[in-house]
Amino acid sequence: AELNSSFKKVQHLVPMLSLGNTFTKEDVENYINKTKRFLQIDSNSNLEFLAEPKIDGLSATLIYKNGKLDLGATRGDGKQGENITENIKSIKEIPHYLVGKYPREIEIRGEIYMSNSEFEKLNSIRVAQSLPVFANPRNAAAGSVRQLDSQITASRKLGFFAYNWGFVSENIGGTLVEVRELIKSLGFNLNHPVELCSNLDQMVGFYNKIYENRSNLDFDIDGIVYKLNDISYYDRLGSTDHSPRYAISHKFPAELGITTLKDVKFQVGRTGAITPVAELVPLTIGGVRIKRASLHNKDEIKRLGIVIGDTVSVKRAGDVIPQIVNYNPKLRPAKYKNIIFPEKCPSCNNYLQFEKEDKIIRCLNHANCKEQIIGQLIHFVSRNAFNIDGLGEKQIIELYNNNLIKEPADIFSLALPNENSKHVLIINLPGWGKLSLSNLIDSINNSKKQTIEKVLYALGIRHLGIGTAKLISKNFKTSKELINRILNINDDNKEYFAQDLKLIKNLYNFGKY
Ligand code: IVH
Repeated sequence: AELNSSFKKVQHLVPMLSLGNTFTKEDVENYINKTKRFLQIDSNSNLEFLAEPKIDGLSATLIYKNGKLDLGATRGDGKQGENITENIKSIKEIPHYLVGKYPREIEIRGEIYMSNSEFEKLNSIRVAQSLPVFANPRNAAAGSVRQLDSQITASRKLGFFAYNWGFVSENIGGTLVEVRELIKSLGFNLNHPVELCSNLDQMVGFYNKIYENRSNLDFDIDGIVYKLNDISYYDRLGSTDHSPRYAISHKFPAELGITTLKDVKFQVGRTGAITPVAELVPLTIGGVRIKRASLHNKDEIKRLGIVIGDTVSVKRAGDVIPQIVNYNPKLRPAKYKNIIFPEKCPSCNNYLQFEKEDKIIRCLNHANCKEQIIGQLIHFVSRNAFNIDGLGEKQIIELYNNNLIKEPADIFSLALPNENSKHVLIINLPGWGKLSLSNLIDSINNSKKQTIEKVLYALGIRHLGIGTAKLISKNFKTSKELINRILNINDDNKEYFAQDLKLIKNLYNFGKY
């Protein structure tokens, strides 16, 4: 990560080097042979390496003095990092105090990362709040750690894997396996899985096994690191300018695919934000069929310099949202089309508003824009909101298109016993029957007991994610009390909220929760 002037600089006691890279079995074989020659070890004898996953996060160093966390810093340029102690303290997996038998001073090094599940959660909250999403868990982790406000770091659940050490005041063990045990006993999580290997085939066997099963891990890895188990070799081998000779990384091939950019569609989110989405000639990357890729915003399209018709490389970033990496200028067709941002909403034809130097483009016709309304309804029944089983995206669209629901309050009216005509219509929709209707009525009725925070989040108010909803709801005993308070807000901006207030009023008048 680049140095940010806002954080104080720290000089590393022991430089934080990077690792040399290998890409093929042959590269790894050459590395082993070179290491044996260097150590004057017979080429036929075995040398033990610990093979471990290379975590795709950001490296950090933690200095503990007399068992207490004294300093946490980023790698920076390897010689000088940034003091991020306050932010680091908010990461649960980083102990403030060591446990067990610890050296007087020890510098623990490892990787701060965000799990894939946490990453997806964070991005979906950001979408709900109309904030730009993070491209991958690594960026999300880096962005979270480099926050000036450590409360933001705390709100993003980050993990830490310890895999190395810097300055240590005393001897902590003769082998890597022993030192890892010690580091674990001090209270850290170790990167895993690992395997102690005594030859090339075992090392590459581990690499292949992990590569094939990497989607089972909840964190991103970009390769395997092989490290000598015998620590007494480390000083003898020394290091180059960039990397120590006791270890090497064996990188995974990037998951790229090549295809054609067919078109760019503009999606309307539930808050009216317009997002460009690349429509691709379908391709398969790493076993996953890909038809679309995220283009984030206008800046991203400008940065890529792509046009419709281009041959593009597509990457499956962190096994989540596919992204366009670049295009091949030599293959640009004579008849290409520029990507033109619409001036009017693709759903309702209303004029759009451009915000934050065009980074966010929004349709303000919240009350009458079909895609927004459907988006709001989907949000309303989603897991963190009313959590209504049996009402997913497909069903919402179907009920909306058949004029059965137009706003959240209508969902509750579906469950009323006297709504016979609606019930008959639902039963006759494809895929529906008496049983599914009766299940739906049960889940709607059950959802009325929802917690205050979920009710608040369900309203779909911009900048009000589930975290904020939790905080606000602490001040109210019942949902009714909360809704009453919102309806009685005396605010100059009341007009601005008119639409939100109308929806809330309808729900409230419905009086069912
Ligand atoms: S050992 C001198 N082990 O990879 C090297 N590094 O390219 C000491 N990394 O900056 C690091 N997983 O951020 C080591 N299991 C692992 C790792 C790992 C990820 C990162 C680390 C380092 C970079 C080097």
